[in-house]
Amino acid sequence: MSRVLVLNGPNLRRLGTREPDVYGAESFDDLTALCRDTGRRLDLQVEVRQTDDEAEMIAWVHEAADARLPVVLNPAAFTHYSYALRDALAQRTAPLVEVHISNPAAREEFRHTSVVAGVATGTIAGFGLMSYVLALQAVAEILAEEKPR
Ligand code: DQA
Repeated sequence: MSRVLVLNGPNLRRLGTREPDVYGAESFDDLTALCRDTGRRLDLQVEVRQTDDEAEMIAWVHEAADARLPVVLNPAAFTHYSYALRDALAQRTAPLVEVHISNPAAREEFRHTSVVAGVATGTIAGFGLMSYVLALQAVAEILAEEKPR
């Protein structure tokens, strides 16, 4: 079974109470359960983490690069300004899917820039928690394509 890291940046542990009109009523625990269930369905061993700390996030990205692990990443606000995170992600050795719960392109101007998108395999945004399901599906498809037949 392939391992996949689902990494979440600042404020995402507050899902459910944080701006529910934007991010929905479901909690971070609900998100974790959804990702694990999706992983079981897709034969992926999914590990969900969250941090408010840029250094910790970068350490996880290095860990993924060293272990050749695919990553589903919601960089949250780091998306818009963290060149340090981008530089870490550029070292990736496996697929990287950027996800967002909301659609940043339809929100404030500062959210229209992603410094991460250019080093990701692709981006999925605007589908609520379903963005993570779609991202895990993309990872599963990519891994299946990579396997010798
Ligand atoms: C977000 C969008 C970002 O602009 C914001 O800073 C977040 C969450 C999303 O999932 O929609 O924290 O990444």
